[in-house]
Amino acid sequence: MEDKERIKSQISKLEEKYKDSGQDLSSYLDGLLYQRYLTYWDYIHLDTLLSLQVPRTHFPDEEIFIMYHQITELYFKLILHEQKQLVDDKSQSLDFFIEKLRRINSYYQALISSFGIMIKGMEREQFLQYRMALLPASGFQSAQFRMIEIYATPLENLIHLSERNEFSSDHKIEELYEHIYWKKGATDLSTGDKTLTLKQFEYRYTPRLIRIAKQVEGNTIYHKYLSLPKELRQNIGLIEALKQLDQNANINWQLMHMGSAHRYLRKDSGDIEATGGTNWKEYLPPSFQKIVFFPNLYTEQELDNWGKQRVDHLFNPDKLK
Ligand code: HEM
Repeated sequence: MEDKERIKSQISKLEEKYKDSGQDLSSYLDGLLYQRYLTYWDYIHLDTLLSLQVPRTHFPDEEIFIMYHQITELYFKLILHEQKQLVDDKSQSLDFFIEKLRRINSYYQALISSFGIMIKGMEREQFLQYRMALLPASGFQSAQFRMIEIYATPLENLIHLSERNEFSSDHKIEELYEHIYWKKGATDLSTGDKTLTLKQFEYRYTPRLIRIAKQVEGNTIYHKYLSLPKELRQNIGLIEALKQLDQNANINWQLMHMGSAHRYLRKDSGDIEATGGTNWKEYLPPSFQKIVFFPNLYTEQELDNWGKQRVDHLFNPDKLK
């Protein structure tokens, strides 16, 4: 009897809901009657997901290479998902800010600690052969990696180190974007020619990246922090979480990633060229790039030593108390 009453009340609520939107409840109930039960595999589109690993060669380890990149891109998407909520948030709630940063840091920690799959998990001989079938594609072309940077900090902080002092928020987005660090990294400095990898990336993604940069102009995660009331800005938990994000994104991930480049591309006599055509030994080190999302959280000395070593306490969040 109680059940019947409950169902009656649910139906009358549904009637209200559909009436308000000019819809007919009875048709929706028919839909419910004919609908198949939901399954796990349909819900997460498992068949589609597992059909996306398509190697271009017959070397078995190429599949590992594809999958780890795909897993990383999914984590990048999780990071962006949290960043977008932070940027959209108007509440200035400290707990919300810290919780979003905590999630982002836990995604980075998963990526950083699992990089061994790339560093140790493939045969070098296979890698050096199948990579020739992948030219000129490179992780350098990861648009989500670039978006994470644009959501985190204003473009003037992403200018190539050699000319960062010459730019400020007074410059137009388009101008700043032209001088972003990764463009220089993929340009032959003697001829000024861009690598094909960069040209293709620019053609595909410039409009989107510029649109995002304009959308978050004056409202990046760094701006969100700077616009908090003073007592919140001084909160130790918040400062630690922001620094952790900065160091995970701009030092620790980079150093693990460079570990892969060294394992596969270093030779006793000279280095093997990168598929993306950069001079990778000069381009990749975080101490050369010196990308810092939240520069005013550090001392001059910390900035001078940026990226010279892995920031170890970040690998063990329990040490952060
Ligand atoms: C065997 C494994 C790997 C090697 C040898 C490697 C090598 C390289 C090299 C040499 C570069 C410099 C650009 C170029 O000239 O191509 C680069 C850039 C990059 N790679 Fe990888 N990579 C590996 C795995 C990955 C994975 C799993 C990801 C995940 C998405 C990734 C993402 C990136 C990104 C985002 C950049 C640009 C970094 C920046 O601009 O600072 N790489 N990689």
